[in-house]
Amino acid sequence: MLSAQSQLLKRNLDLFENGKWLIINPTDAYFSDELITFNITFLYQYFDIFAESVKVIPSCEFDSRDVSSATNGFCIKQKVGMHHHLFSPFIPSGETYTDILIYLPKSKAHAVMLMAMAHAALSEGGRLHIVGENKGGIKSIANAITHIGPSQKVDSARHCSLITISPSEVAQPFNINDWLDESTFEVAGFSWQVASLPGVFSHGELDEGTRLLLEKCSHRLSGSVLDFACGAGVIGACLLGRFPHIDLTLLDVSALALYCAAKTLTLNDQAAMLIAANGLHGVSQKFKHIITNPPFHTGVKTDYSVTRRFIADSAHSLLPKGTVQIVANRFLPYPGLLAEVFPSTHTVAQNNQFSVYLSVSA
Ligand SMILES: C[S@@+](CC[C@H](N)C(=O)[O-])C[C@H]1O[C@@H](n2cnc3c(N)ncnc32)[C@H](O)[C@@H]1O
Repeated sequence: MLSAQSQLLKRNLDLFENGKWLIINPTDAYFSDELITFNITFLYQYFDIFAESVKVIPSCEFDSRDVSSATNGFCIKQKVGMHHHLFSPFIPSGETYTDILIYLPKSKAHAVMLMAMAHAALSEGGRLHIVGENKGGIKSIANAITHIGPSQKVDSARHCSLITISPSEVAQPFNINDWLDESTFEVAGFSWQVASLPGVFSHGELDEGTRLLLEKCSHRLSGSVLDFACGAGVIGACLLGRFPHIDLTLLDVSALALYCAAKTLTLNDQAAMLIAANGLHGVSQKFKHIITNPPFHTGVKTDYSVTRRFIADSAHSLLPKGTVQIVANRFLPYPGLLAEVFPSTHTVAQNNQFSVYLSVSA
């Protein structure tokens, strides 16, 4: 189904008739069908919508050293009809477009970084466009980027707005290092470094749930370990530092997160496999241990569907007598979900906000 943002764009299809267009982070996999007769490039920073759009790639693997050393991290390309679909953290360097449309991301800092990246990829006289939900802060983002040029509201409907910016200044070249934060964290006497970017979970900070998990996780880690929903690689890099003999894999849906995880590993003189996937879908490897601070969304409704699916699938991704260690807000119903899947589950730590659960497979 078309997202509200795409429904608004559907009222404005004539916009796409001319120019060389790049569309960044569509919030559904169906708007591209409305543009089937136009030659358009789509850039996805989220693997779930990319995989749904191209329909053939269940997951992708990378070596963190390759990702960390490449200027643009990685870029998976798939051509479907007249469309080029790219899964990458960044706009490919050297490419320019007359029009770049960004679906407004949740975080304002992420939006500002995307605008700077897109501005630098515009050809002379090119235009930027943003579509987003009014409650998602589209007005405040328009105010935050007045330095780029004047903005004009093109249309609004379905509680969303579409604005166009005609840059008045020539863009500064986009350099990712200007946006990368490098922080040092310490847990239980062990310190390690973490690289992160706007748009990646807990950018520049150590999440309190993650801290509790790292303080209380089982020390008996050996063999293959999966850091599921790895974000900037905080958990994986800490574990690999403390237990250098483990065989680590990190997985996330976000290209920016995977890029940061690769940078984090390099900062700590480490290397690991990275997987881009939507949950455990398309992941055939089996692991001895899975450790995670999994995603959930609090809004009008709490959405923990990704974690519900992860728990159901995790038993198939574990070796016999393997473990899953999860940290979560105490109010989330994970003990019941874990008990439905695993023969043994117990709470290994708890504070007034978070619990850490350990489940063992059959
Ligand atoms: C709570 S954050 C934890 C990040 C990191 N492990 C930490 O502790 O800082 C959850 C992560 O889940 C990722 N995520 C969200 N949906 C996902 C999905 N469907 N499949 C895999 N990862 C997902 C997000 O990109 C985010 O990095």
